Amino acid sequence: MSKLLALPTLLLLLLASTAVDARVIKRMQHRRALFDVAAACKTTSYPLLCQSLPADSASLKDLTSTVVSAAADKAKEAQDEAAKLMAEPETSNTVSQSLGVCRANFDSAVDSLRGAAKNLKEAASHADLMSNLSAATAFVETCNDAFAERGLKSPVAKTTELLGKLVSNCLDLGSALQ
Ligand SMILES: *[C@@H]1O[C@H](CO)[C@@H](O)[C@H](O)[C@H]1NC(C)=O
Repeated sequence: MSKLLALPTLLLLLLASTAVDARVIKRMQHRRALFDVAAACKTTSYPLLCQSLPADSASLKDLTSTVVSAAADKAKEAQDEAAKLMAEPETSNTVSQSLGVCRANFDSAVDSLRGAAKNLKEAASHADLMSNLSAATAFVETCNDAFAERGLKSPVAKTTELLGKLVSNCLDLGSALQ
Protein backbone atom coordinates (compact mmCIF):
# COMPACT_ATOMS: atom_id res chain seq x y z
CA MET A 1 0.00 0.00 0.00
CA SER A 2 1.35 3.44 -0.92
CA LYS A 3 1.90 6.00 1.78
CA LEU A 4 -0.68 8.20 0.10
CA LEU A 5 -3.41 5.61 0.56
CA ALA A 6 -2.34 4.43 3.96
CA LEU A 7 -3.10 7.62 5.82
CA PRO A 8 -6.72 8.06 4.68
CA THR A 9 -7.34 4.37 5.28
CA LEU A 10 -5.99 4.64 8.79
CA LEU A 11 -8.12 7.72 9.43
CA LEU A 12 -11.19 5.96 8.12
CA LEU A 13 -10.54 2.95 10.34
CA LEU A 14 -10.07 5.19 13.35
CA LEU A 15 -13.28 7.06 12.63
CA ALA A 16 -15.21 3.84 12.11
CA SER A 17 -14.00 2.29 15.35
CA THR A 18 -14.83 5.47 17.26
CA ALA A 19 -18.39 5.41 15.91
CA VAL A 20 -18.77 1.75 16.93
CA ASP A 21 -17.36 2.47 20.38
CA ALA A 22 -19.84 5.29 20.85
CA ARG A 23 -22.71 3.00 19.93
CA VAL A 24 -21.52 0.24 22.25
CA ILE A 25 -21.11 2.69 25.13
CA LYS A 26 -24.55 4.13 24.49
CA ARG A 27 -26.09 0.66 24.54
CA MET A 28 -24.28 -0.22 27.75
CA GLN A 29 -25.53 2.95 29.41
CA HIS A 30 -29.06 2.11 28.31
CA ARG A 31 -28.72 -1.40 29.76
CA ARG A 32 -27.42 -0.12 33.05
CA ALA A 33 -30.57 1.92 33.44
CA LEU A 34 -32.65 -1.27 33.14
CA PHE A 35 -32.91 -3.97 35.79
CA ASP A 36 -29.94 -6.34 35.67
CA VAL A 37 -31.44 -9.86 35.51
CA ALA A 38 -28.07 -11.60 35.37
CA ALA A 39 -26.84 -9.85 38.51
CA ALA A 40 -30.03 -10.68 40.41
CA CYS A 41 -29.90 -14.31 39.24
CA LYS A 42 -26.29 -14.57 40.40
CA THR A 43 -27.53 -14.30 44.00
CA THR A 44 -29.71 -17.41 43.62
CA SER A 45 -28.71 -21.04 44.22
CA TYR A 46 -29.15 -21.91 40.51
CA PRO A 47 -28.18 -18.81 38.51
CA LEU A 48 -28.29 -20.41 35.06
CA LEU A 49 -31.74 -21.84 35.65
CA CYS A 50 -32.86 -18.43 36.92
CA GLN A 51 -31.49 -16.66 33.86
CA SER A 52 -32.98 -19.15 31.43
CA LEU A 53 -36.53 -18.10 32.36
CA PRO A 54 -37.23 -14.38 32.26
CA ALA A 55 -37.34 -12.63 28.93
CA ASP A 56 -36.88 -9.12 30.27
CA SER A 57 -37.89 -8.48 33.84
CA ALA A 58 -38.09 -4.81 34.75
CA SER A 59 -37.53 -5.32 38.48
CA LEU A 60 -36.61 -7.85 41.14
CA LYS A 61 -40.30 -8.28 41.86
CA ASP A 62 -41.00 -8.93 38.18
CA LEU A 63 -38.25 -11.52 38.06
CA THR A 64 -39.54 -13.18 41.24
CA SER A 65 -43.05 -13.36 39.76
CA THR A 66 -41.70 -14.98 36.59
CA VAL A 67 -39.76 -17.60 38.53
CA VAL A 68 -42.68 -18.29 40.90
CA SER A 69 -45.04 -18.77 37.94
CA ALA A 70 -42.56 -21.11 36.26
CA ALA A 71 -42.34 -23.12 39.49
CA ALA A 72 -46.15 -23.29 39.73
CA ASP A 73 -46.34 -24.58 36.14
CA LYS A 74 -43.64 -27.15 36.85
CA ALA A 75 -45.47 -28.31 40.01
CA LYS A 76 -48.62 -28.81 37.93
CA GLU A 77 -46.58 -30.82 35.40
CA ALA A 78 -45.10 -32.91 38.21
CA GLN A 79 -48.58 -33.61 39.55
CA ASP A 80 -49.77 -34.76 36.11
CA GLU A 81 -46.69 -36.93 35.71
CA ALA A 82 -47.22 -38.63 39.07
CA ALA A 83 -50.90 -39.25 38.26
CA LYS A 84 -50.02 -40.70 34.85
CA LEU A 85 -47.40 -43.08 36.29
CA MET A 86 -49.84 -44.24 38.98
CA ALA A 87 -52.30 -45.24 36.28
CA GLU A 88 -49.77 -47.37 34.42
CA PRO A 89 -50.28 -51.12 34.93
CA GLU A 90 -46.55 -51.83 35.29
CA THR A 91 -46.28 -49.52 38.31
CA SER A 92 -46.02 -51.60 41.49
CA ASN A 93 -48.34 -51.01 44.44
CA THR A 94 -45.60 -49.64 46.68
CA VAL A 95 -44.36 -47.22 44.02
CA SER A 96 -47.94 -46.25 43.29
CA GLN A 97 -48.54 -45.45 46.96
CA SER A 98 -45.51 -43.16 47.05
CA LEU A 99 -46.60 -41.55 43.79
CA GLY A 100 -49.94 -40.86 45.46
CA VAL A 101 -48.10 -38.97 48.21
CA CYS A 102 -46.26 -37.00 45.51
CA ARG A 103 -49.42 -36.20 43.59
CA ALA A 104 -51.12 -34.81 46.70
CA ASN A 105 -48.03 -32.82 47.71
CA PHE A 106 -47.47 -31.43 44.23
CA ASP A 107 -51.09 -30.33 44.28
CA SER A 108 -50.44 -28.46 47.54
CA ALA A 109 -47.24 -27.01 46.04
CA VAL A 110 -49.28 -25.68 43.09
CA ASP A 111 -51.64 -23.96 45.56
CA SER A 112 -48.80 -22.47 47.59
CA LEU A 113 -46.94 -21.23 44.51
CA ARG A 114 -50.08 -19.77 42.94
CA GLY A 115 -50.77 -18.16 46.31
CA ALA A 116 -47.26 -16.71 46.24
CA ALA A 117 -47.81 -15.39 42.69
CA LYS A 118 -51.04 -13.73 43.81
CA ASN A 119 -49.28 -12.30 46.83
CA LEU A 120 -46.64 -10.71 44.60
CA LYS A 121 -49.25 -9.25 42.27
CA GLU A 122 -51.18 -7.73 45.15
CA ALA A 123 -48.07 -6.68 47.07
CA ALA A 124 -49.34 -8.54 50.15
CA SER A 125 -47.28 -9.34 53.25
CA HIS A 126 -43.70 -10.44 52.68
CA ALA A 127 -43.91 -12.88 55.60
CA ASP A 128 -46.86 -14.63 53.92
CA LEU A 129 -44.96 -14.81 50.65
CA MET A 130 -42.02 -16.50 52.35
CA SER A 131 -44.33 -18.82 54.26
CA ASN A 132 -46.02 -19.90 51.01
CA LEU A 133 -42.65 -20.49 49.33
CA SER A 134 -41.31 -22.46 52.34
CA ALA A 135 -44.45 -24.57 52.29
CA ALA A 136 -43.82 -25.37 48.61
CA THR A 137 -40.28 -26.48 49.48
CA ALA A 138 -41.60 -28.84 52.16
CA PHE A 139 -44.18 -30.34 49.78
CA VAL A 140 -41.48 -31.15 47.22
CA GLU A 141 -39.30 -32.74 49.90
CA THR A 142 -42.20 -34.87 51.10
CA CYS A 143 -42.40 -36.46 47.64
CA ASN A 144 -38.73 -37.43 47.81
CA ASP A 145 -39.18 -38.78 51.36
CA ALA A 146 -42.07 -40.97 50.24
CA PHE A 147 -39.59 -42.95 48.14
CA ALA A 148 -36.44 -42.64 50.26
CA GLU A 149 -38.21 -43.95 53.39
CA ARG A 150 -39.06 -47.17 51.57
CA GLY A 151 -35.72 -47.49 49.82
CA LEU A 152 -37.42 -46.93 46.45
CA LYS A 153 -36.12 -45.03 43.47
CA SER A 154 -38.46 -42.19 42.54
CA PRO A 155 -39.74 -42.38 38.96
CA VAL A 156 -40.40 -38.64 39.17
CA ALA A 157 -36.91 -37.81 40.52
CA LYS A 158 -35.90 -35.65 37.56
CA THR A 159 -39.02 -33.50 37.63
CA THR A 160 -38.86 -33.25 41.41
CA GLU A 161 -35.23 -32.14 41.25
CA LEU A 162 -35.97 -29.39 38.73
CA LEU A 163 -39.02 -28.29 40.70
CA GLY A 164 -36.92 -28.20 43.88
CA LYS A 165 -34.35 -25.98 42.18
CA LEU A 166 -37.02 -23.62 40.86
CA VAL A 167 -38.62 -23.30 44.30
CA SER A 168 -35.20 -22.78 45.88
CA ASN A 169 -34.59 -19.87 43.48
CA CYS A 170 -38.03 -18.49 44.38
CA LEU A 171 -36.98 -18.44 48.04
CA ASP A 172 -33.67 -16.74 47.22
CA LEU A 173 -35.36 -14.02 45.14
CA GLY A 174 -38.19 -13.70 47.66
CA SER A 175 -35.70 -13.09 50.49
CA ALA A 176 -33.94 -10.44 48.43
CA LEU A 177 -37.27 -8.63 47.95
CA GLN A 178 -37.56 -7.58 51.58
C1 LIG B 1 -49.75 -18.42 52.35
O1 LIG B 1 -49.26 -18.16 53.65
C2 LIG B 1 -50.22 -17.64 54.54
C3 LIG B 1 -49.51 -17.32 55.87
O2 LIG B 1 -48.91 -18.44 56.42
C4 LIG B 1 -51.34 -18.65 54.73
O3 LIG B 1 -52.33 -18.12 55.57
C5 LIG B 1 -51.94 -18.98 53.38
O4 LIG B 1 -52.89 -20.01 53.53
C6 LIG B 1 -50.87 -19.44 52.40
N1 LIG B 1 -51.47 -19.62 51.12
C7 LIG B 1 -51.21 -20.67 50.38
C8 LIG B 1 -51.94 -20.71 49.08
O5 LIG B 1 -50.43 -21.55 50.69
